[in-house]
Amino acid sequence: MQTRRHFMASSAAATALLGFLPRQAKATVSFETLEAMSASVQLAPDGYPATDIWGYGGTAPGPILRVAQGGRLQRRFVNSLPQASSIHWHGIRIDNAMDGVPGLTQAAVEPGDGFDYDFTLPDAGTYWYHSHNRSAEQVARGLHGALIVEEGTPPDVDREEVFVLDDWLIDPETGQIPGDFESPHARSHAGRMGNLILTSGVFDKTMTVQRNERLRLRLINAANARIFVLGLIGLEGWTMALDGMPLPAPEPLDEVLVLGPGQRADLIVDVTAEEGGTAYLARVNEARGAPQVTFRVRGQASLARRGIPDALPPNPGHVIDLSGDSVNLTLNMEGGAMGGLREAMFNGEQVGFRELAQANQFWAFNGMVGMPDSPMATLDRGQIVRLTISNDTAFPHAMHLHGMHFREVLTDNTLGPMRDTLLMDSSERREIAFAADNPGDWLLHCHMLSHAASGMMTWVRVT
Ligand code: C2O
Ligand code: CU
Repeated sequence: MQTRRHFMASSAAATALLGFLPRQAKATVSFETLEAMSASVQLAPDGYPATDIWGYGGTAPGPILRVAQGGRLQRRFVNSLPQASSIHWHGIRIDNAMDGVPGLTQAAVEPGDGFDYDFTLPDAGTYWYHSHNRSAEQVARGLHGALIVEEGTPPDVDREEVFVLDDWLIDPETGQIPGDFESPHARSHAGRMGNLILTSGVFDKTMTVQRNERLRLRLINAANARIFVLGLIGLEGWTMALDGMPLPAPEPLDEVLVLGPGQRADLIVDVTAEEGGTAYLARVNEARGAPQVTFRVRGQASLARRGIPDALPPNPGHVIDLSGDSVNLTLNMEGGAMGGLREAMFNGEQVGFRELAQANQFWAFNGMVGMPDSPMATLDRGQIVRLTISNDTAFPHAMHLHGMHFREVLTDNTLGPMRDTLLMDSSERREIAFAADNPGDWLLHCHMLSHAASGMMTWVRVT
């Protein structure tokens, strides 16, 4: 009775407030929040001051989000920063409205406001999320985290680790991040480089493992511009997936693994170092090599190593068939320091390089500086696109396509692994192919974030 009377009373009240019903109804199904906020964290080694960061949940990287393949991610993004922001879900074959690109797929979320992200995850793999507003600043301040989509049947490993690789630019005296996010030098050269390289927010990341233990390592390059060149010492294993997508067969990792900004790799490695010894994931391009992650080997997991792992199960769809018709596009990357760019289109006018530099803009795609009003191509849904990219600049660039993975068309006309970010060296010319099977407006930009902010940004429309 009591319950029933309460129900009657509250439904009468609700009727009186009919105008507010939809909002109340919405509030009752509100998602778990993911709040971007300032925090102070110890990034630099002990003895150095703490650093003020912007992080999801107040940490950098933000929380690891884990979803089962085919599942749904629902988060209410709450912006408690002093700047507008948004979240992009890098590498996800996502509903366009959830892609998180201000000015293209949504309005930037103002301070104090929120946005409900709600989408399904069709592909298993290692992905990440990061701010897509003023990214060169916001990602550098810490607004990024890992997004893991788990296979129905995970591979047989003893343990899994997610390593977010990042470099921070920090003043060693104050521990603070210098505010020069628009530095013309960083923009016109290799991008904003840090002086403190971390793994998942930790300097000197160290863990204890056992000999013959099998680890799955999920590596994510979240740096603004740094290219990580990694090797294994005292570990042996295979690359299992790149940019989230499984390779058809495990590829022995005996040389180096190169990860440009935005790129990911899944490795399965066995600890082969002796008991009592040390193994490393190392940056092998630095003088004498530098540890990225240190593994102390204590004890033995088994007497012998296991056999070669099975390939990870392929993700559904993703068919790129080059035998039929295709749309052929070209993208010439131009500009930057020592790039010889004379003039380009900027804000609707043809202007000289000097004038561009005065506007703190340095790069062009097909002679256009910055985000054009109209797409570089309008594609019918399902079309196969072949895109030839020429890097006519003096710097490497990490070209990222939103919403769809592509494969590189190799010189023998076979297709390389599925990727969402292609690292291109200076003077390289390479071709990628993708199926335009995800409707919407999708960015194509350099993931060296200072480059994206100073010209290297365009988009395609899939109808
Ligand atoms: Cu990871 Cu357009 O970005
Ligand atoms: Cu670039």
